[in-house]
Amino acid sequence: MLNSQFDLLPPYPFKRLAALLNDPAPEGIEPLILSIGEPQNQPPAAVQNAIATHCHLWNKYPPNLGTQEFRKTITQWLIKRFHLPETLLDSERHVAPCPGTREALFLLGQICVPQQKNGQKPVVLLPDPFYHVYAASGIFAGAELVYLPATSETGYLPDLSSVSPEILARTALFFMCSPSNPQGAIASLETLTQGLALARHYDFTIAFDECYSEIYTSSPPPGGLQAALSLSVESPSAADPLSHMVVLQSLSKRSSAAGLRSGFMAGDPEIIALYGRLIGQGGTPTPLPILAAATALWKDEEHVEANRARYRYNFILAEERFGRLGFQRPGGGFFLWLNVGDGEAMAKTLWQRFAIRVMPGAYMCGGATLTGTENPGQAFIRVALVLEEDAMAQALDRLLEALKDVGLVGA
Ligand SMILES: Cc1ncc(COP(=O)(O)O)c(C=O)c1O
Repeated sequence: MLNSQFDLLPPYPFKRLAALLNDPAPEGIEPLILSIGEPQNQPPAAVQNAIATHCHLWNKYPPNLGTQEFRKTITQWLIKRFHLPETLLDSERHVAPCPGTREALFLLGQICVPQQKNGQKPVVLLPDPFYHVYAASGIFAGAELVYLPATSETGYLPDLSSVSPEILARTALFFMCSPSNPQGAIASLETLTQGLALARHYDFTIAFDECYSEIYTSSPPPGGLQAALSLSVESPSAADPLSHMVVLQSLSKRSSAAGLRSGFMAGDPEIIALYGRLIGQGGTPTPLPILAAATALWKDEEHVEANRARYRYNFILAEERFGRLGFQRPGGGFFLWLNVGDGEAMAKTLWQRFAIRVMPGAYMCGGATLTGTENPGQAFIRVALVLEEDAMAQALDRLLEALKDVGLVGA
């Protein structure tokens, strides 16, 4: 007998995609993959250099919460990026490396969800559409998932004010992604602060997934730590200023280093300590040479600015082609979230006739199957603008041609 929680997982989006697009791409056209948020450029050479310099450390078991140098570097980065006072963060208590944020997001369910909350089954709140790991995190922790539709009506962000006090009383964990994947919407500091205030009032954890925070069009998105700062200024209390919250950051998007598997979690010291214990009991600490490479990447902003410039350029290419479709450049991230009427049908057409692979929006949503309501991603496709200039322009030309073909854009 095996764990039946697997049966509760929403279908894995990439498995569904593989089943939908299981025929080969049309002959004679180079396939272009825009279905996955994987940057196609290389991270800076600092990665190889740091790994080579620290290769004598491969024989060492890494500490569960990383090195002091890594934690200090992250602390300094956070202070500078989010204009925080030095006193808000203690690198020894508030920061932990993680082997990519996917695992940490998953483990948060194990750390933050009790068996019962106020005598009832605990709830995990998540946006819909959502990054699939949020659902897995809640399900394997034994929680009920409550999806918050993130549609044009809600500014493409989950609306906590729509959640009833009964559900909030049962809530153990809320995943808040800004800039959001897939829509690229940026939550205001006010929204983040209100979310954290509610988390404290109802005694749940808010996980601010900020993986896309360094990919933005004009101004840097605010972050969860700034929300914590606002609350600590408004109403200082004896509790830790980062209580009930963590932020998660990754090198996968910021530094195009998805294969390095490196990110960090910062926030509530109790959660960080429990995370360290969980890693020690059954997780993966980040290897020391990888931590050294990650440290080098967090100390350098030049390559991040170059990455932002690439994505800005890709969005300009998209705007030139799809502006007429009502497409507006999102505030952050690197996805196009395009309303094409029927996302699944369009994904099939794009693959079969134009050799472009995109993700149907419906595959990133889960709430509708539980509630019988309309799937908020049904009409959409998610297009990852992660290719290099020429390939990107070619892919977007093909996409435009396809949209013209089905009459979504005038010829
Ligand atoms: C919203 C979001 N959060 C977290 C992750 C996990 O990224 P990683 O594990 O590479 O840090 C992803 C990856 O695509 C993502 O889209």
